Amino acid sequence: MKSEGSNAWTPTSWRAMPVKQMPQYPDMAKLAAAEQRLSKYPPLVFASEARSLKTVLGRVAEGKAFLLQGGDCAESFAEFHPDKIRDTLHVLLQMAVILTFGGGLPVVKVGRMAGQFAKPRSADMETMDGVSLPSYRGDIINASEFDEASRTPDPARMIQAYHQSAATLNQLRAFAHDGYADLHKVYQWNLGFVTRSPWVERYETFASRIDEALEFMAACGVTAETTSAIREIDFYTSHEALLLPYEQALTRIDAATGDWYDLSAHLLWIGDRTRQLDGAHVEFLRGVKNPLGLKCGPSLAPDDLIRLIDVLNPDNEAGRLTLIVRMGADKVADKLPPLLRRVRDEGRAVVWVCDPMHGNTITSPSGYKTRPFDRILSEVRGFFDAHRAAGTHPGGVHFEMTGQDVTECTGGAEDITDDALSLRYKTAVDPRLNANQSLELAFLIAEMSKSERMAIKRLRMAGGHAGGRA
Ligand code: PEP
Ligand code: CO
Repeated sequence: MKSEGSNAWTPTSWRAMPVKQMPQYPDMAKLAAAEQRLSKYPPLVFASEARSLKTVLGRVAEGKAFLLQGGDCAESFAEFHPDKIRDTLHVLLQMAVILTFGGGLPVVKVGRMAGQFAKPRSADMETMDGVSLPSYRGDIINASEFDEASRTPDPARMIQAYHQSAATLNQLRAFAHDGYADLHKVYQWNLGFVTRSPWVERYETFASRIDEALEFMAACGVTAETTSAIREIDFYTSHEALLLPYEQALTRIDAATGDWYDLSAHLLWIGDRTRQLDGAHVEFLRGVKNPLGLKCGPSLAPDDLIRLIDVLNPDNEAGRLTLIVRMGADKVADKLPPLLRRVRDEGRAVVWVCDPMHGNTITSPSGYKTRPFDRILSEVRGFFDAHRAAGTHPGGVHFEMTGQDVTECTGGAEDITDDALSLRYKTAVDPRLNANQSLELAFLIAEMSKSERMAIKRLRMAGGHAGGRA
């Protein structure tokens, strides 16, 4: 039990706690100057938007909406380009429309974008040809080139990451509201190279069904002019709140409520490597009112999860906490059910999301870090199966994906082979799904989601009859 004194939260209280995965800045004065500067910059998002996301996530927790969270493993300074942002958004919109129409639930759209820079690493140092240097931790901290200057953590990178996030958000906000995300453009979101995939035909058929539905609705008087949901979307941002000096500098009091919010993104999550109950990351995030994510890997025991929920969601507020499960295809059937049952039996309101990426990373025979499509799909299936057995809601999915035509994950309908990985392997850290693989997964998940809802409906109808006769 924590004493009253240790329970007091401030934006700096994390500094007294043990902290993992933090870079060693050689120049502390430069770090303080960068933090000072950032703390005077405008917030990147607004507290009211974070509250809206929390509200819609509350619906996800009840099984009335589905969460789609996706984007880069790590955003990069070198790859920063408007076309890249647009293409990733395109694929997310396509996936969302497939999931909405196919799965029959509203889809909450959250990007791993506009701030997803800092990366946890398994080793602090990397050794090459007898030379040891600090590991690359994402562009917000250091550069990936293997030389001393590049690998030295530089606080000025936080300022650059802030500006890149601001510009990215500016573009995302414009796309969300200027007619770009209008459902009538469902055809135009198809990226040129997607035509190589067999799923494109399916997408086209699907797009024409949406067109028909829109025509029917227009005939009934429901148009883009009368209904904003047809012409624009709510798009939210998220990232791992790993680099705490940056997160603290963007944490502000919301004038309307008097509460603290981390305004670097709408949703912040705690990584699988930094979820220690008494660690700095849990301490920092428990005090901000944003919706939070918590990565749940195979080493997380049900008791520890409940303790973390006690700290991160003490008021049992639906939408506050999203549990992002990343067990691996081979472990999900063993590791997830005990967590689901425990959380269910304790009556904790949470959103359950499947991240089928981080537990399925392997090194291919050719030496590339990759993720086989079959394993990704198999973890998603395992996630849905576990929820069905526990009677809980499979709330959504979390992907590392891109709109670029990359070859980073093997398999899928295109059947990217190990040999093909070298063709367009571009990721800064982890392998991402390309546009074709993302669409394919969306179709398959929409089917799972639909059969899930059908099963619930059947159960309800059976229950309803019994209840009626009683
Ligand atoms: C990530 O989401 O990029 C990540 C590092 O995940 P995890 O903390 O689950 O390993
Ligand atoms: Co990753």
